[in-house]
Amino acid sequence: MNILILGSGGREHAFTHQLIQSKKVTKVFVAPGNAGTDKIATNLDVNPTDFNAIKEVVIIHDINMVVVGPEAPLVNGVHDFFLADEKLKTIPVIGPKKDGALLEGSKDFSKEFMIKHGIPTARYQSFTQENLSKGKDFLETLDPPYVLKADGLAAGKGVLILDSLEEAKAELEEMVSNQKFGEASSTVVIEEFLKGIELSVFVLTDGKNYKILPSAKDYKRIGEGDKGLNTGGMGAISPVPFADESFLSKVEEQVVKPTVEGLQKDGIDYRGFIFIGLMNDNGNPSVVEYNVRMGDPETEVVLSRLASDLFELFEGVANQTLDQKEFSVIPQTATTVMLVSGGYPEAYEKGKTITGLENVTESIVFHAGTTTNNSDVVTSGGRVLAVTSFADTIQEALDKSYRSIDEIHFEKMNYRKDIGFDLVS
Ligand code: AMP
Ligand code: GLY
Repeated sequence: MNILILGSGGREHAFTHQLIQSKKVTKVFVAPGNAGTDKIATNLDVNPTDFNAIKEVVIIHDINMVVVGPEAPLVNGVHDFFLADEKLKTIPVIGPKKDGALLEGSKDFSKEFMIKHGIPTARYQSFTQENLSKGKDFLETLDPPYVLKADGLAAGKGVLILDSLEEAKAELEEMVSNQKFGEASSTVVIEEFLKGIELSVFVLTDGKNYKILPSAKDYKRIGEGDKGLNTGGMGAISPVPFADESFLSKVEEQVVKPTVEGLQKDGIDYRGFIFIGLMNDNGNPSVVEYNVRMGDPETEVVLSRLASDLFELFEGVANQTLDQKEFSVIPQTATTVMLVSGGYPEAYEKGKTITGLENVTESIVFHAGTTTNNSDVVTSGGRVLAVTSFADTIQEALDKSYRSIDEIHFEKMNYRKDIGFDLVS
């Protein structure tokens, strides 16, 4: 079997790392990939949202399955494109069609879905330019802080959490009237603020059956102590100690089952990952958001703990036989610490040579924003490397990651030294 993975981050390197271990997999291609995937698979210089270019490489390289990393190709309909094409329609795509991808592509759709199917989530209402004044009235009925969300995809920036009512009203107007986040904020979801501790649970579904993957917690802020600007994620830990058996069984009963059943009831044939962002409020789950893909850097810790064959699981997704597939997870804790370019998440420089990777012995280094320049590995993005380790405790795994980081160098390298600070005593 030849597999094509779409994407270029640490998530896609982690997918590649798992899939090349399957006896059934002959070759793995990654489009466009990075310097890490280049070492263990074949990179193809194709943009994941250029569907005609994808079609071309799928035919040339005799691809038997496509695994979609990021959300954009899914929201743009890559799965639908395959189904509508005579030459591609029998090639399975791991990732939902456009209808299912709306769970991430539209916050309004996903909130409506949750309410309709009785899935616990914050009380909300949606507003546009037409009913802006009603939106301001709704804000007055809520207690601070106020949560405003652009309905559409806004590169992870479309959520505002504001302490003052006046500011919330002004930002609402900026979003719907002045297109603060472009077209994405022409509809805005206003919702109640949820208290509690955040974590994520990942589900792989074939539309009927599901497997619940390990839980993970990511660290989104650039600064230590969870301070400063939001990033794509500065590190992650799996499993999450406070997600105990009792909490996870509530997640399964109150969130996962009604989500998979709700998709079926609504006629949405969903084949792929569901990434559920949750708040744990005194042991009770509430859904913050759905994503229709795996998280990055969560994949680096979640899928790394998979003991079963990922390709077999994907075959189960494609054939709706996921219930017959072996599924097991290694009990050890995984931690990943992201090395980022100085300046990220604001402006940063690229093209810095990375040295010392060959001296890392205790960790797996998943590449995120890297490329190859002659024989050098150089930085090509904000998030550069995800240094991932395993051990019996969080602390030991973190110690390994930080020892490995001491071996790695590039100009203006930055990272958080306190990943997991809230989970270790
Ligand atoms: P989202 O893109 O919906 O995940 O929102 C981004 C981040 O904002 C989440 O990861 C939470 O940390 C925070 N957030 C979103 N919605 C709420 C809410 N209703 N209550 C508290 N925090 C929230
Ligand atoms: N780490 C968060 C995400 O992938 O959306």
